[in-house]
Amino acid sequence: MAFFDESFSLLTPPEGRVEALAKVTGKGKYAAEYVAEHMCYAVLVDSAVAAGAIQNININKAAQVAGVIQIITHQQKQLVPGFSDESKIKDSRFGLPLFHTDKIYFKGQPIAAVVAETLEDAIYAASLIEATYTPDNFVVDFEEAHTKQSLAEAGKERGSINALNKAPYIVESEYTIAAEIHNPMEMHATIAEWTATDQLKLYDKTQGVNNVQRTVSKLFEIPEKNIEVISEFMGGGFGSGLRVWPHVLAAIMAAKQVKRPVKLMLSRPQMFYSVGYRPASWQKIKLGADKDGKFIGILHQAKNGSSVYESFSEGITRVTRLIYHFPNLKTESAVVPLNLSTPTWMRGPGDCTGDFAIESAIDDLSYQLNIDPVQLRLKNLALDKHPDSGLPWSTNFINECIEKGAAIINWQDRKPKPLQLTDGDWHKGYGMAVGMWNAGRNNASAGIEMQKDGTITLQTAMTDIGTGTGTGMQNIAHEVTGISKSKIKIELGNSNLPPAPSQGGSTGLSSVSGAVVAVCNALKLKLAAYAVTINNVYKNSTPNDILFSDKGISYKTPGNQPISYSQLWDKHQLTTIAVEASSGPGEERKQYAFCSSAAHFCRVRVHSKTGKVKIEKLVCVADGGKIVNEKAAANQMSGAAVGGIGMALMEEQLADAKLGSLVGNDLAGYHFAVNADAPIIDVAFINKPDPHINPTGAKGLGEVGIIGTAAAIANAIYNATGKRLKDLPITPDKVL
Ligand code: MOS
Repeated sequence: MAFFDESFSLLTPPEGRVEALAKVTGKGKYAAEYVAEHMCYAVLVDSAVAAGAIQNININKAAQVAGVIQIITHQQKQLVPGFSDESKIKDSRFGLPLFHTDKIYFKGQPIAAVVAETLEDAIYAASLIEATYTPDNFVVDFEEAHTKQSLAEAGKERGSINALNKAPYIVESEYTIAAEIHNPMEMHATIAEWTATDQLKLYDKTQGVNNVQRTVSKLFEIPEKNIEVISEFMGGGFGSGLRVWPHVLAAIMAAKQVKRPVKLMLSRPQMFYSVGYRPASWQKIKLGADKDGKFIGILHQAKNGSSVYESFSEGITRVTRLIYHFPNLKTESAVVPLNLSTPTWMRGPGDCTGDFAIESAIDDLSYQLNIDPVQLRLKNLALDKHPDSGLPWSTNFINECIEKGAAIINWQDRKPKPLQLTDGDWHKGYGMAVGMWNAGRNNASAGIEMQKDGTITLQTAMTDIGTGTGTGMQNIAHEVTGISKSKIKIELGNSNLPPAPSQGGSTGLSSVSGAVVAVCNALKLKLAAYAVTINNVYKNSTPNDILFSDKGISYKTPGNQPISYSQLWDKHQLTTIAVEASSGPGEERKQYAFCSSAAHFCRVRVHSKTGKVKIEKLVCVADGGKIVNEKAAANQMSGAAVGGIGMALMEEQLADAKLGSLVGNDLAGYHFAVNADAPIIDVAFINKPDPHINPTGAKGLGEVGIIGTAAAIANAIYNATGKRLKDLPITPDKVL
């Protein structure tokens, strides 16, 4: 796939995404770009200590700044219904009792919000807030803390793990991964406007408007239908927009108090501790095989960091129970509370972490056994059924991903032992790894409004976080109806539209595509009912009997003249035709297991004097069922792979064990992969529809683009240098 090579001409732009023009011209608005009438600005003041209690907050100096309207602290009485005291908040399972407690759980915890006429006034006044604390002991060092946390069973033991003791070939290793920050380009922001006493309008950066609506409804005790949430465009999400964070509630509380719309945008440093992150993790693997490379068993133990006010488990060992046939298996996990903010899902959450360990261990084993890592994997894949549920896979083409990837990178050029390929001071090597993800699907709804001129507007509340959901929806609607793409408009990201799940966990298109097919069919039947009055052939017709074109509606048998839309509209005195339909998972989920998968292949060069790692080639072959839009899909895969390069080589959020603060929490201090760090990613797809996942056969793709990338890179570094590096990120100091 070489869509990056396509010659680009301004006169004939290649068919792009539905939102492309709005995004590149600035016409499409991100949450912080809206302006509400009489809007004012809120800025959060962060705790300066990592644990303890607030003694006092002196707001006097801040209050004197011209333009300051209100200062909210836990000492002020809250006028917001529902979100009114600590016990109520705890009941709602929102972990941080924002502005309702003097307790401090982490450094950076919001202790006050300053509301002012301008952003500048608010920032200045916030700097004048003086807080004193009774500090307490705190722990932010995961490495130290995890050793004290004991493990608990994570899923049922398979066979008996004692079988491992008799395995002739064993790898036993520990792996660590540093905390990573999502860092989307667009900052998280909320504009909150109370349009009536119990009516809210929110412009919010979120991956799920209905999720925000539900959460806010519960917390503030107002009916869901009274809350409108808008998230039409996003400048990246990666998981940080999958839950409602404290700053959203702060904006809502502030707007209630000042009786005006309030805009609250996090600063870049605040993004590091306010909207989740991939937690630091520790893993231990014991993997055993017989002399032919057949796996005998695996023990996988994992721990991840969390906060002291919420327990977030990443699910690191989930993937271990998924890909391979391990007759004997035991998985254990633990959550390690730290005085940091709560982590959350980030790109391939859990599986990406666990996969690094198992795919590194399998690579390690392949050298012990002297079996090619590709062959070792092919020998052990659980291709027939899901190893835990025992359900047959609906489709599972991970073997084809591996074979295709090996061909693309010319795997035969790899040397079976390290340090065999050199180029001056550079060592060169090849590595590979696979990834898998349970392919989910949720209930989703979609609507269509059709006009007399034959244009349709396809609607759903789902937010397109940059993955191309809207474009995919347009493609599907075009395929099902026959209406040309230029006549299909897409409306997304508003809770007033037909409800849809959040976009995350690679379930976006998988969920909404079923709704799109359903609503297109509903439209066909609706128009057919009107058409019967003109031509009786439409009587008792099914969606498959009916075709639309730009000219009008026609019946499938040849020779039937289309009935023009204007003829239909005039005859029945129609204005806009509106239909809505829902679709979701059903019985097939009891009959089959569903997965997406990918194989990642990598060629690196490693400088023997500086430890610099350069990725020369990265190949990613994925099975995501039917590929609805190849360009958007490939784009998503290569973006994920670049994230994987960052995870492997650069990304690391350290906390200062003495101060409790994050080290280098800005884009200069936190390194992630940019274009200069990545080669052109070679993306390919198996592109076979899954017959059971949904009506389109499209499985999810987002996560498998990164699950396996880091291990492929680490394995290539081993093949180049003979160094087995088990702690991410693999920075030059570790390579040397
Ligand atoms: Mo994601 S972690 O599926 O936004």
